[in-house]
Amino acid sequence: MEKFSNLKSKKILICITGGIAVYKIASLVNHFLKNGSQVKVIMTQAATEFVSPVTFQALLNDVVYTDLFDIKNPREVEHISLAKWADICLVAPATANTIGKIAHGIADNLLTTVVMALPQKTKIIIVPAMNTEMWNNPIMKNNINELKKYKRYIFINPVSGLLACRDEGIGKVADSQDILKIVSKELK
Ligand SMILES: Cc1cc2nc3c(=O)[nH]c(=O)nc-3n(C[C@H](O)[C@H](O)[C@H](O)COP(=O)(O)O)c2cc1C
Repeated sequence: MEKFSNLKSKKILICITGGIAVYKIASLVNHFLKNGSQVKVIMTQAATEFVSPVTFQALLNDVVYTDLFDIKNPREVEHISLAKWADICLVAPATANTIGKIAHGIADNLLTTVVMALPQKTKIIIVPAMNTEMWNNPIMKNNINELKKYKRYIFINPVSGLLACRDEGIGKVADSQDILKIVSKELK
């Protein structure tokens, strides 16, 4: 795996939503840690159905954030401090549902609220992964085009292959190496 020296000490906020590709994000988190990045993880409720937060807690030696109202430190407003902390935000895998919410300004859980609260200077890298029909749905395309109007939303498109649903087509989450490369480039 290629090393990215500028990822060292950078604060990467990884926002995990509920798709089958969640298990691949454990290895992505590890790659950021090996590059010397600081990582915090937020998971939606659906994401925790696929992989337990315990996996990410063990990798990070830190808490994983899942609930808007489960305030770990009463001295701060968690969704705001998480948003301020991040040098960059990575939504991976990004479900059709969460992309739709972000595109329409919906902030109804911790993850979407933090994304809404990110300072304007913070770039948001979105890594969609889903079934081919979901990806090709014109509503999905509209939502992506809507977000692309704001320059700070950067998409890393899914790739083709055999999907978990046994369909062959586009929808698999991008390769970890490509994700690291783009995050590194956007932090320069
Ligand atoms: C087995 C299974 C696999 C799923 N995989 C995906 C997926 O890869 N991409 C996606 O957009 N939704 C997928 N879904 C649907 C999402 O989990 C669902 O839309 C959920 O509401 C997403 O919530 P979230 O965006 O808050 O994480 C899957 C659901 C199940 C049961």
